[in-house]
Amino acid sequence: MTRPRVLVTHPILDPGPQLLAAEVEVVTGTEPSIRARAEGCAGIVSQVMDPIGEEVLSLPGLKIVANCAVGFDNIDLAAATRHGVLATNTPGVLNDTTADFAFALLMAAARRVAEGDRFVREGRYHGWAIDMLLGQDLHGATLGIVGIGRIGRALARRALGFDMRVLYTDDAAPLSPAEEAELGVERRPLVELLRESDYVSLHVPLTPETRHLISHDELQLMKPTAILVNTSRGPVVDEAALAAALKAGEIFAAGIDVYEHEPAVDPGLLGLDNVVLAPHIASGSVRTRSRMSELAALNLLAGLRGERPPNLLNPEAWQT
Ligand code: GLV
Repeated sequence: MTRPRVLVTHPILDPGPQLLAAEVEVVTGTEPSIRARAEGCAGIVSQVMDPIGEEVLSLPGLKIVANCAVGFDNIDLAAATRHGVLATNTPGVLNDTTADFAFALLMAAARRVAEGDRFVREGRYHGWAIDMLLGQDLHGATLGIVGIGRIGRALARRALGFDMRVLYTDDAAPLSPAEEAELGVERRPLVELLRESDYVSLHVPLTPETRHLISHDELQLMKPTAILVNTSRGPVVDEAALAAALKAGEIFAAGIDVYEHEPAVDPGLLGLDNVVLAPHIASGSVRTRSRMSELAALNLLAGLRGERPPNLLNPEAWQT
């Protein structure tokens, strides 16, 4: 029996390739378009930088797209459902790793870690000074978490361990009073959270509602000593407005892992010392990226075997 063909758009990590090789014929293709590369394929293992739209999802014979990421804004889910194509993501395995990194950005921005590193390397450190590179304290400060899903909750637990007070906002999925009490967080409307918080960290998916959730007006509500961290998706923040606010000292600093037009970074941010810039690596630990690769492969293989994939995003497509 011939094995189904599967396009793996970019390499994934062990044990993903071994799992796939045991059941399918893996192709990588060389054409520039994903549609051309996926022609004749029953499945695609995609990643965050791969736009999977109507033109790909309408390919005859395509059964499943397994995204190797928790975010899936790169896939047109409605089109997938319309064409009866299953779509999956890799939730759960990256919560703690991503929260670790959000906290790392928070600390790096607050205590000017990257700026200090540049300062030393550039030969500008000539001895201790009482006012050198002063930052903001984390302990005793208030953290506002925008989006209290799995990663937002993992961040709350870290912040509470640092003696921070934790606020959150989440209109889509608020916690019950019992969950709030158990986690130790208080709910606020976004406007109040922005006004009250010393740190604001974003943990919402990218949707039409969350695009530019943080723009000029929201940045104006934040304290001049406040720090913004974004490890969610770039377009949740209006990057030009952020660069302007950082340049004008309207907020103290930012820690940014994701960009509006990845991999491009707003030139306004690149020249600023009060922003820590990372290349979309929040889930990037050896173990977590390997677990994501494994999960993407397992989702894809389940779909091709006619089993319901564990992380199905569009159950409507399964029913049809
Ligand atoms: C990475 O950004 C992911 O969504 O997993």
